[in-house]
Amino acid sequence: MKGLLLAGGTGSRLRPLTYTGAKQLIPVANRPILFYAVDAMVASGIHDIGVIVGDTKDEVMHALGDGGQFGANITYIPQSAPLGLAHAVKSAREFLGDDPFLMFLGDNLLRGGLGTLVERFQAGDYAASILLTAVDDPRQFGVAVLENDRVVRLVEKPKEPPSNLALVGAYCFQPVIHDAIAQLKPSWRGEYEITDAIQCLIDWNLNVDSTRVEGWWKDTGRPEDVLEANRLVLEDLATRIEGQVDGESRITGRVVIEPGAEVVRSDIRGPVTIAGGARIEDSYIGPYTAVGPQVVIRRTEIENSVILADSNIEDIQERIDQSLIGRGVRVAGGRRRPRGLRLVLGDQSRIDV
Ligand code: DAU
Repeated sequence: MKGLLLAGGTGSRLRPLTYTGAKQLIPVANRPILFYAVDAMVASGIHDIGVIVGDTKDEVMHALGDGGQFGANITYIPQSAPLGLAHAVKSAREFLGDDPFLMFLGDNLLRGGLGTLVERFQAGDYAASILLTAVDDPRQFGVAVLENDRVVRLVEKPKEPPSNLALVGAYCFQPVIHDAIAQLKPSWRGEYEITDAIQCLIDWNLNVDSTRVEGWWKDTGRPEDVLEANRLVLEDLATRIEGQVDGESRITGRVVIEPGAEVVRSDIRGPVTIAGGARIEDSYIGPYTAVGPQVVIRRTEIENSVILADSNIEDIQERIDQSLIGRGVRVAGGRRRPRGLRLVLGDQSRIDV
C-alpha cells in the first residue's frame, strides 16, 4: 500500500504565521506537525509516501528530505493549485498507479495513529475506509451518516449536519476512487471534494467502511488548535535534561531541555520543552509551553504558549498566556516613560493587552 500525504494548500486561517511558511511545518512540542504525520504512516506499515506540495514546496522538501530520517521513501508531487483534496489525488495519479493507498492530511494530528484504519481496510473488502470522530460543531468538517459501521451518506461542511460524526483527515482507497474523481464537479466552495468522490462510491453500491478515532484527533487549522495540539502532545512528554541548568534554577514536572539550551535563575514547571540554542534568564516558563530553537526569554513569565525559532522576549510585566509567537519576533517591555505600548505588528496580527 502507498501513502499520500497532503502538504499543499494555503493556510489562510493561520495567518500571519503562514504568510511565509507552510502550515504543516508549524511546530507542536518543537516538532513540525508534518513529522508526526510521516511517523504515523510509517508506524502503520506504509513506507512509500508521495507528498503533495504547493507554493511552500521548497520548505517542505527541505524539512522532510528523502524521508530517510523517518524510515520512509518520499516522492514529491507538485499540485498546480490547491483545488481540493480530490484534485490532490488526481495530481498523484502517476505515483499511485493501481495500488491501494492511504491518504492523510498533513495538518492533522492523531494520537492513536493510523494502524487500526489500515488493518481494517486491508482485512476487509472495501472500496474505501474512513476515520470518524464525534465533534461539537460538525459544520466545519465532512460529516458521515452510518448504518452499523457502514457509511451510507457523506456531506462536506453541511449547514445542517445530518450527524455529529466528522471525517478525520485519513482515508484508505482502492484504485476505483480515481474513476469517482474523474466524474466530480467543483463544490460550492470551488474545490474538488474527496467527500463527494466517496459519496460517488456509495452511490455505486460499493462498500465504504468506517473506523472511530482512538485517543484524540486535532485539525491544526487555527491558532487555538495549534495551542491545543501542543498541550495534547506535551501531555506525553518524558523528562530529558541535556542542556545547561544553573544552580539557581528550579525544574519541576516533565521537562525537556535540549543540548545547547541554557536556563539561568529561572523556574521551569512542566510539561515544557525547550529547544537547543534557547536561553532562559530570570524567567518563569509554565506548563504546556514549547520554546523554539535560539529563542531568548529574559525577566518574563510565560505559560500555555508556543514560541517559534529565533524570537526574543524580554521584560514583560504581565504573564504571557495562551500565545502563539512566530519566528524572529521581538517582544520587549521596559521602564520607558511615559508608559505606553509601542507596536510594530504585521498584517493580520492579533494582540490582546
Ligand atoms: O480536517 C478534516 C477535514 O479536512 C475533513 O473533515 C473535511 O471533510 C476535508 O475536506 C478537510 O477539510 P478542510 O477544509 O479542513 O481541508 P483543508 O483545506 O484545510 O486542507 C487539508 C490539508 O490538505 C491541508 O494540510 C492542506 C492540504 N491541501 C488542501 C487542499 C484544498 C492540499 O495539499 N491541496 C489542496 O488542494
